Amino acid sequence: MMIEEFCKRMPKAELHIHLEGAIEPEMLLLLARRNEVRLPWENKQQILDAYQFTCLEDFLTLFYNGCRVLKRAEDFHDITLAYLKRAKDDNVVHAEMFLSPQSHLANGVGWSDMLDGTLAAMEEAQFDWGITSGLILGLQRHRTELEAFEILEASMPWRDKLLGIGLGGSELGNPPGKFERVFQAAKKRGFYLTAHAGEEGPAEYVRESVERLGIDRVDHGNACLDDPGLVMHLAERRTPLTLCPLSNLCLNVVDSLESHPLRTMLKKGMCVTINSDDPAYFKGYINDNLVACQKALSLTEEDCLVMGRNSIEAAFLDPGLKRKYY
Ligand code: ADE
Ligand code: ZN
Repeated sequence: MMIEEFCKRMPKAELHIHLEGAIEPEMLLLLARRNEVRLPWENKQQILDAYQFTCLEDFLTLFYNGCRVLKRAEDFHDITLAYLKRAKDDNVVHAEMFLSPQSHLANGVGWSDMLDGTLAAMEEAQFDWGITSGLILGLQRHRTELEAFEILEASMPWRDKLLGIGLGGSELGNPPGKFERVFQAAKKRGFYLTAHAGEEGPAEYVRESVERLGIDRVDHGNACLDDPGLVMHLAERRTPLTLCPLSNLCLNVVDSLESHPLRTMLKKGMCVTINSDDPAYFKGYINDNLVACQKALSLTEEDCLVMGRNSIEAAFLDPGLKRKYY
């Protein structure tokens, strides 16, 4: 079997995917029409032409603009089901997905529409295709600690159906420490914890996320290589990193895939995984990311298998279920 085919067929978990970032241009246009939301674009080509970014901030402006098309439970249901179908086709057996409540609350969407629509699609996907999934609420780091506490509180009626709390948004100038008490409270309530760190920000933000927020996984984490002590700590504890190579390329976090830190991290024995982040914006799902990295970094079949195994190890699944896959 060719290595490309091997990567595609390998069972894998996707652990870093924003549902709002998986709204394909056709779906964006359809939802805008359905909800009478005006977009600055009229067709798919105009949307694709607009998806050129110089940095994370640049992308987030379009990401938040895209969120405006989501209004009702049906919309959240449809984007979730579309993503899970696409993921299943990439042999994703389990997905842990982010949803950013603050973007939607600001657009006047209610909690029930957001969560009931999303959770219903997750159940449907498991029933129809056997793909399991979990939902992580992504807090926005440019907003206040008080607002983050309010999100945590408001999510409690759905506590048993939610997997975790994450931290995303514009990283530079927004160090994670501000959310230390929120993350402590979330841990007490039994949520798994993740944070975007070291994407555009420095290694210090990765260290702070681990030491002060007590996260179970680092989202991105590219910059950790600048701190050898931190690398040793992450490798020894098998703290997973959810890397998103095509996202990094599109947002100029790396100059080329050939210079992506992924292979160095693998060599250092870190628990690295490959993910798609916002596949509709960065034009690549999980297998596209895997295959592009395999080529650019000359990864071996064993390297790819290690990352497939890592993705299951890093998932917030019970050990019995994990053994089903590897
Ligand atoms: N929200 C959606 N995608 C993101 C990313 N790559 N970094 C931070 N926040 C995000
Ligand atoms: Zn992300």
